[in-house]
Amino acid sequence: MWGCGALLGARAGLRLCRELFLAWNRGWSAAAPYSASAEPSRVRALVYGHHGDPAKVVELKNLELAAVGGSDVHVKMLAAPINPSDINMIQGNYGLLPKLPAVGGNEGVGQVVAVGSSVTGVKPGDWVIPASAGLGTWQTEAVFSEEALISIPRDLPLQSAATLSVNPCTAYRMLMDFEQLQPGDCVIQNASNSGVGQAVIQIAAALGLRTVNVVRDRPDLQKLTDRLKSLGAEHVLTEEELRKHEMKNFFKDMPPPRLALNSVGGKSSTELLRHLAPGGTMVTYGGMAKQPVIASVSQLIFKDLKLRGFWLSQWKKDHSPAQFKELIVTLCGLISRGQLTAPACSEVPLQDYQRALEASVQPFVSSKQILTMC
Ligand SMILES: NC(=O)c1ccc[n+]([C@@H]2O[C@H](COP(=O)([O-])OP(=O)(O)OC[C@H]3O[C@@H](n4cnc5c(N)ncnc54)[C@H](OP(=O)(O)O)[C@@H]3O)[C@@H](O)[C@H]2O)c1
Repeated sequence: MWGCGALLGARAGLRLCRELFLAWNRGWSAAAPYSASAEPSRVRALVYGHHGDPAKVVELKNLELAAVGGSDVHVKMLAAPINPSDINMIQGNYGLLPKLPAVGGNEGVGQVVAVGSSVTGVKPGDWVIPASAGLGTWQTEAVFSEEALISIPRDLPLQSAATLSVNPCTAYRMLMDFEQLQPGDCVIQNASNSGVGQAVIQIAAALGLRTVNVVRDRPDLQKLTDRLKSLGAEHVLTEEELRKHEMKNFFKDMPPPRLALNSVGGKSSTELLRHLAPGGTMVTYGGMAKQPVIASVSQLIFKDLKLRGFWLSQWKKDHSPAQFKELIVTLCGLISRGQLTAPACSEVPLQDYQRALEASVQPFVSSKQILTMC
């Protein structure tokens, strides 16, 4: 059985070979889709058959599109980013793994080509994004179940739409769910130039929060600092600056942060904790340095700091689809008002996926690789 569909209830509906197809296909005589243009067609997809180094295990394959059943939606994918979680999933190091073989990609935007007879929530021409992780977005077309998709406005910038369903949602929830922050309160974060980090900066600015943004030093630091400040970052510091003794005066001019957002781990997270206000919370949502969080005993005892974790997939399990849709509507509003833009992106045609996969794991790239499907 095709992995992603089984995992998500989404009819990914593609085949790698005739045997797989025969074992899985539920029949081409399903209800006719509401579009004349839904003829079965060839699909190009980035597929992996086993876990390992993405550069070695991911292959561009021609697959066949399944029929559109009554509750299904035929989607032409437009663009899909390569996120660290996509890489971790292919490596087999993620909290949620599809059955193999699987199509890569958890995020992206597509346009509805045709819908099954019982589909009511979307129509041909609509733009849709995944409702859950593991959909398999690195493909030119697919058939998904209606419940696997969320409709979004078609006038969003393409890159914003393609990068909407994971990182901005994570940023928004972390800002809202752990501390009762008020305008003027301060948030500190590391990896501030990441997709999540850039969303945190912008959503925090829209909420009237002040941000201290930590990045790794690099040759073009000033350019990066200017970019993050143009998004609303109040301060941009390097990891080295954060460790300096002079930092003890830094928070005389602004309130010490009540919330720290950590996607690095190791020494970087220890430094975030050092600057947290008494009683403050550090939320860990990523581990880019692949090192454990190390918390000073005295900081924990004398400042009563709270260490928490966040995983968007768990948040979705704990909340209803309607609540996730509400979150997407809120974020679309921020995008429409110009308060939330996509992270810096490099668009790469699907067939050049090797180049995009390599760039996505290079340090200091400061640009998210987005696969385009035309
Ligand atoms: N828990 C959740 O629900 C959730 C949701 C979304 C994302 N995430 C996680 O959040 C993190 C960021 O995701 P993203 O899509 O925003 O990433 P991204 O845009 O691809 O950016 C990656 C970031 O990680 C930094 N980085 C990479 N290796 C590092 C290292 N060894 N030490 C310090 N920093 C390092 C990069 O900094 P440089 O520019 O200096 O290389 C960059 O800022 C990932 O760990 C991802 O899995 C978690």
